[in-house]
Amino acid sequence: MELYRAHVLVCAGAGCISSGCQAVKSALEESIDRLGLKREVKVVETGCMGPCDLGPVIVVYPEGVFYRQLKPADAVEIAEEHLLKGRVVERLLYKAPENGKTAVTSDQIDFFKKQTRIALRNTGIINPESVEEYIARDGYRALGKVLTTMTPQEVIECIKKSGLRGRGGAGFPTGLKWEFSAKAPGKPRYVVCNADEGDPGAFMDRSILEGDPHSVLEAMAICGYAIGSNQGYVYVRAEYPLAVQRLSLAIEKAREYGLLGENIFGTGFSFDVEIRVGAGAFVCGEETALLASIEGRRGEPRPRPPFPAQEGLWGKPTVINNVETWANIPPIILKGPEWFASIGTEKSKGTKVFALAGKVNNTGLVEVPMGTTLREIIFDIGGGIPGGKQFKAAQTGGPSGGCIPARYLDVPVDYESLTRLGAIMGSGGLIIMDEDTCMVDLARFFLEFVQDESCGKCSPCRIGTKRMLEIVERITRGEGRDGDIELLEELGHGIKSSALCGLGQTAPNPVLSTIRHFRDEYEAHIYHKKCPAGVCRALMVYAIDEEKCNGCGRCALVCPAGAVYGEKKKPHRIDLEKCLRCGTCMEKCKFGAIYTI
Ligand SMILES: Cc1cc2nc3c(=O)[nH]c(=O)nc-3n(C[C@H](O)[C@H](O)[C@H](O)COP(=O)(O)O)c2cc1C
Ligand code: SF4
Ligand code: SF4
Ligand code: SF4
Ligand code: FES
Repeated sequence: MELYRAHVLVCAGAGCISSGCQAVKSALEESIDRLGLKREVKVVETGCMGPCDLGPVIVVYPEGVFYRQLKPADAVEIAEEHLLKGRVVERLLYKAPENGKTAVTSDQIDFFKKQTRIALRNTGIINPESVEEYIARDGYRALGKVLTTMTPQEVIECIKKSGLRGRGGAGFPTGLKWEFSAKAPGKPRYVVCNADEGDPGAFMDRSILEGDPHSVLEAMAICGYAIGSNQGYVYVRAEYPLAVQRLSLAIEKAREYGLLGENIFGTGFSFDVEIRVGAGAFVCGEETALLASIEGRRGEPRPRPPFPAQEGLWGKPTVINNVETWANIPPIILKGPEWFASIGTEKSKGTKVFALAGKVNNTGLVEVPMGTTLREIIFDIGGGIPGGKQFKAAQTGGPSGGCIPARYLDVPVDYESLTRLGAIMGSGGLIIMDEDTCMVDLARFFLEFVQDESCGKCSPCRIGTKRMLEIVERITRGEGRDGDIELLEELGHGIKSSALCGLGQTAPNPVLSTIRHFRDEYEAHIYHKKCPAGVCRALMVYAIDEEKCNGCGRCALVCPAGAVYGEKKKPHRIDLEKCLRCGTCMEKCKFGAIYTI
């Protein structure tokens, strides 16, 4: 084995790839070569390190120096200064947005400090294309342990005792699901990984598959042993080509090493995994639709029961778990259920991965113990709200979830607390909104999403969400009527209780939760024809500040409605009868003379 004086980890997650990490890596490798350091310094590509908006990012070990927002020229400087001469390149280090303090290593950065990484333990640390690196971090040791020292029932008991609940949204106890399958009559049995991840802005599962694919394969094999199954499937969306590529390579390598396939570790147990690529319909993430899609049928949900644990793929008992759920399994087996159960809250054990997005300084992937408060996630890890703006609300659970307003910032993030607030934990999408977000417009956005994605099989969802969307759109256009809020509530509750699958049963949530916490905003739109956040264009009134206007006439030139009038070099005015509220004049005025009321 070759020994290196330094390792440079280059994040090659999808975020850093899109911000140009491959060019940075090439520049780094060329410089290392040119400087004669090839035998001393090793460059390793990893999965997502977490702080995606700082990409491309690299970490230089053994010191752990963290560099961010790199260009190829910066990589050359790092090679010449840091790798050759041992001098840290100060200007490329991270500076905290709130106080400008420089951090040399990643553990000095608040974003990393408050995280506990279980599901993401290897993501951003190992080369996901190297099974050897996974093995070096205890990979496949849990599989070895269950196959050689535990009975299937002991494995199930271990997962039950850990308190692990499904991370795909519903939070069902994982050990119990395995037990139902193990006890259900019928053979063969199947193990399925749900990697359909369709919530807008969510990328937790993609990052795990791209950064640590073997952890999912190892966990699926462990489940196979526990329930008596020899075949697994990973259902992953076609929009994740890098995940598909790394997972395919991982399956190939695992087979080559005898970690998948026939007679694993010579124990007589056989298990293999195949990939099924989905076309990206949101509804195919719903377990019964997903199984139909694997079978080659149309991806439509069916009523439950029977649940997949009893009657799943081709009518046989099937365990289906989410990517993050799977990634938690090997450490539970190795460190014991008590260790896992000691993290988190009474009913929500372990950690949760969130994709932190929206109006927050540090966006990216974070993993925190269950029970961490929203305030800690947004302000300590996320670095607060940019531009000195006020935090308004956080949306958890994407289109199935709800919003949490500022007064609940100190509520612990766990399954029970979020449900009490009318939100849900969901799969981990966490969108932060500031004072400039209109909550009615937010509800419209998610409603439009579920309307588009509804499969149309049942009428409460197909027709009901359409009617709800029409009403919300009307409200944002300033055509809301007395009684609309009550009508939305009535429709929402009706759809929730009668839709066939989880998509329809949760589709009204964003509307109901914004009404619950921000009713005054709906009322302002309906009764006062005002959008307090200044987002709904149709409700804006454009005006010209006569003090600032120098009469250049530019606004009149661009106005599509001929609504601006005034003499050259004299203050102009807007005819509100003609104005279409398009905002073009405001964009084009170089003197900041046009404002909205
Ligand atoms: C419309 C809809 C979309 C879903 N999308 C996903 C998804 O992308 N990934 C996922 O793991 N679960 C998704 N689920 C939940 C699954 O139906 C299922 O509960 C989950 O895969 C079970 O795994 P878990 O117990 O590990 O969470 C979705 C559910 C619904 C109703
Ligand atoms: S609730 Fe919506 S997505 Fe689910 S089956 Fe009915 S129409 Fe299809
Ligand atoms: S573009 Fe601005 S400064 Fe020029 S006329 Fe219009 S409002 Fe006045
Ligand atoms: S908002 Fe559009 S329509 Fe109204 S005055 Fe400005 S450019 Fe003209
Ligand atoms: S993709 Fe590089 S930090 Fe997330």
